[in-house]
Amino acid sequence: MSDIQSFRQAVETFISARGWTPTRFGRTVAGDPLFVFDLREGREPRSETRTRILKAMQEFGDGEALPPLRVGVAGLGNVGATLVSILQKDGAELTKKLGRQLVVTAVAARSRSRDRGIDITGLDWFDDPVALAKSDGIDLFVELIGGEDGPALASVKAALEIGRPVVTANKALLAKHGTELAKLAEETGAQLGFEAAVAGGIPVIKTLREGLGSARIAKVFGIMNGTCNYILTRMGNEDISFADCLKDAQALGYAEADPTFDVEGYDTAHKLAILATLCFGYELAPDKIRVEGITGITQHDIQVAADLGYKIKLLGIAQRTDDGIEQRVHPTFVPRGSAIAGVDGVMNAVALETDHVHELLLAGPGAGGPPTASSVLSDILDIARGTRVPPLGVPSDELLPYREAAMRAHDGGYYIRLSAKDVPGALAGIATRMGERGISIDSVIQRSDLSAKAVAPDGSPTRTVVMITQQTLESAVRESLAQIASDGFIVGEPQLIRIEQL
Ligand SMILES: NC(=O)c1ccc[n+]([C@@H]2O[C@H](COP(=O)([O-])OP(=O)(O)OC[C@H]3O[C@@H](n4cnc5c(N)ncnc54)[C@H](OP(=O)(O)O)[C@@H]3O)[C@@H](O)[C@H]2O)c1
Repeated sequence: MSDIQSFRQAVETFISARGWTPTRFGRTVAGDPLFVFDLREGREPRSETRTRILKAMQEFGDGEALPPLRVGVAGLGNVGATLVSILQKDGAELTKKLGRQLVVTAVAARSRSRDRGIDITGLDWFDDPVALAKSDGIDLFVELIGGEDGPALASVKAALEIGRPVVTANKALLAKHGTELAKLAEETGAQLGFEAAVAGGIPVIKTLREGLGSARIAKVFGIMNGTCNYILTRMGNEDISFADCLKDAQALGYAEADPTFDVEGYDTAHKLAILATLCFGYELAPDKIRVEGITGITQHDIQVAADLGYKIKLLGIAQRTDDGIEQRVHPTFVPRGSAIAGVDGVMNAVALETDHVHELLLAGPGAGGPPTASSVLSDILDIARGTRVPPLGVPSDELLPYREAAMRAHDGGYYIRLSAKDVPGALAGIATRMGERGISIDSVIQRSDLSAKAVAPDGSPTRTVVMITQQTLESAVRESLAQIASDGFIVGEPQLIRIEQL
């Protein structure tokens, strides 16, 4: 670290440690109210000035024990209650690590009387998270309410507006308002931490913002929803349907009563949008993601995948291309021997392809109170230590306007499952339509034990046909399937799954 870098770090640590505003430091220590703002904008004070200020900081520090960092927690559910319990239980150890006390002084939730397994006597109670965010009794605000708007957005904004640091685990809020919130944080000099918002306990945000800050990332992909991964893993290990797996996941607490958000892929899309911005430096664009969930996956798909040496995983994939960014979420055939295929059950994993470090796979628990609370805590510790990074990796006014890339060909082709009419000429007709779009069929697979036999509305018998294509354009496959449907050769919606050679 250069002299100027360690000077900056010392100033930031001094400010955070005391919960001071930049202006207070400027007036009290540096003799210039704008000193910290100028420093953050890149001003490099002369060596004599640095020496004078470091001496003043030392004298100040010698005469003053660091006050505790007072944390306000809004939302005392799964994550919030776990965080409060960790802070109360491990307080002494954290104090040793930080050199100052970290205490929860105030909390907010809807029901004051609900038993959450934590002791909230002596803490200030707020019914209104916005009032907590603005309260003079805290130095740092933690938002663990959830939801993309409403009290979560209002309280995070209220804290950032007054320059108060914020930590949140809320991916929906960040996917929708992340650019605006990062801008606000930079304007007021507040820090904004959201390690827990993507892949729960896996430190992927810190890896991208700090660890890989200098690497050029070409692609990021991962399993980012534990509910979907649990269901697909169970379907792969046992001969049970999607619906039965979902029921079990709900009984075990891995899936919500309304699982739509998870199983339709939107939760993965929110996390992917955040990762894509950190990886590629474009504005957040959750609406530009092509999203497909796992509700249409059958045992037939799972077992054909296994026969061919693959597993099916719900992947979020974002990639830098010559004409912009491609972002997609969909079930994917991944080779059984690949690292990502080994990530089973409720575990998550994020893979990064970079120019310097090549491939990196981060795997671990993606959700649950303790892993998520531990990521929240790691943000709190970073802020208490004075670590400063732009929330989205680069200053928000340097984020590029989003450029959506066209879908491109990819290695590995497609798995297509059709319910084809079992009448003369149907298979030949299907093959002809594929040929017209330049799609080469690698193999046609029929497993009589799995083939659903049914009768089309016109009385024709049907059978399940699976085709594996060679590398081709997705648009070509979709156009030819639309043509095949209008020819009347198939019944119902075809199943289309990408095969990735990861
Ligand atoms: N759970 C996980 O594994 C996980 C993983 C990663 C990220 N996250 C994120 O972490 C956040 C919290 O998740 P969670 O699972 O802990 O949620 P949760 O169990 O549903 O808890 C939400 C909390 O917010 C409180 N709340 C709701 N509306 C409120 C309002 N208007 N005013 C004050 N308090 C309000 C609730 O109060 P009451 O208790 O009084 O109802 C509850 O304590 C979400 O953004 C989620 O996406 C969760």
